[in-house]
Amino acid sequence: MTSVPQNDRATWLQGPAAECDLPKPLLRPFRLILLGPPGVGKGTQAELLGKELEACHLSTGDVFRAAARGGYELSPAMAEAIAYMRRGALVPDSIVWKMVQERIACLHCGGGFILDGFPRTLAQAEALKSLLEGEHIPLTAVVCYELSEKEIVARLSGRRTCGQCRSVCHIVDRPPRVADICDRCGGTLFQREDDRPEAIKVRLEAYRESTAPLISFYRDAGMLLRVPAEGSPDDILRRTLNGLQVIQTK
Ligand code: AP5
Repeated sequence: MTSVPQNDRATWLQGPAAECDLPKPLLRPFRLILLGPPGVGKGTQAELLGKELEACHLSTGDVFRAAARGGYELSPAMAEAIAYMRRGALVPDSIVWKMVQERIACLHCGGGFILDGFPRTLAQAEALKSLLEGEHIPLTAVVCYELSEKEIVARLSGRRTCGQCRSVCHIVDRPPRVADICDRCGGTLFQREDDRPEAIKVRLEAYRESTAPLISFYRDAGMLLRVPAEGSPDDILRRTLNGLQVIQTK
């Protein structure tokens, strides 16, 4: 598999009025859901997988964060969603679902997709299942990353995001060459509001209560690929690609 540049995800991040440079349709596009607790490394893997598989990284958290950065007038529903996100709580299903439905073109994309952070509740998973079945869009697999809670808290507390290009690093495990400066673009690094200890606690509780039940939902549907998330991002990527290869040859 070759590494290709990713598109700008304009339709996903800004909504249906924005057009992205559509990748050329693939013969067998990958359509994945990434599951796993906050901080397990879903965003890191989605970026790497996107380059390997030529599929677009569709993160619901990224849409809320893009809206929070401003630049346009927020709808009352989006303003409400941002308030939930800032304290680490899940955004209500109705708001998330409306946002995903508006971006249905991204699910039809001929390059495939990697859903990161959605679905996150059983209601969201059921709604997505009906939508994909109704639109005849087959899922390839649901990749579930697994890591101890101690390691998760360490990854979240040390995460820094670039204010300019949004790339992510870690002050201990993947430190920038110059403190507080992004290696990729020279932008200033900041800590996400929901990576403060009190918000991390709320997020982990929300995961245990609302998202963890999706593991058995997708296991029972025969879609689940469990991947240990210890080791370097490249190790985890390799494990994921190996697992996907097995699924594709079945
Ligand atoms: P979202 O953006 O989806 O956040 P999350 O699920 O909490 O996931 P994170 O982005 O925190 O972690 P990640 O698993 O992507 O880890 P990362 O790769 O960054 O959602 C944010 C909020 O939006 C939610 O709390 C909610 O309010 C709302 N929301 C979004 N979707 C919703 C939905 N569907 N329903 C309701 N509400 C919704 O890695 C973490 C750190 O670890 C980084 O510093 C990274 O550099 C480091 N790292 C990664 N891999 C490794 C490795 N292998 N070794 C060492 N360090 C590593």
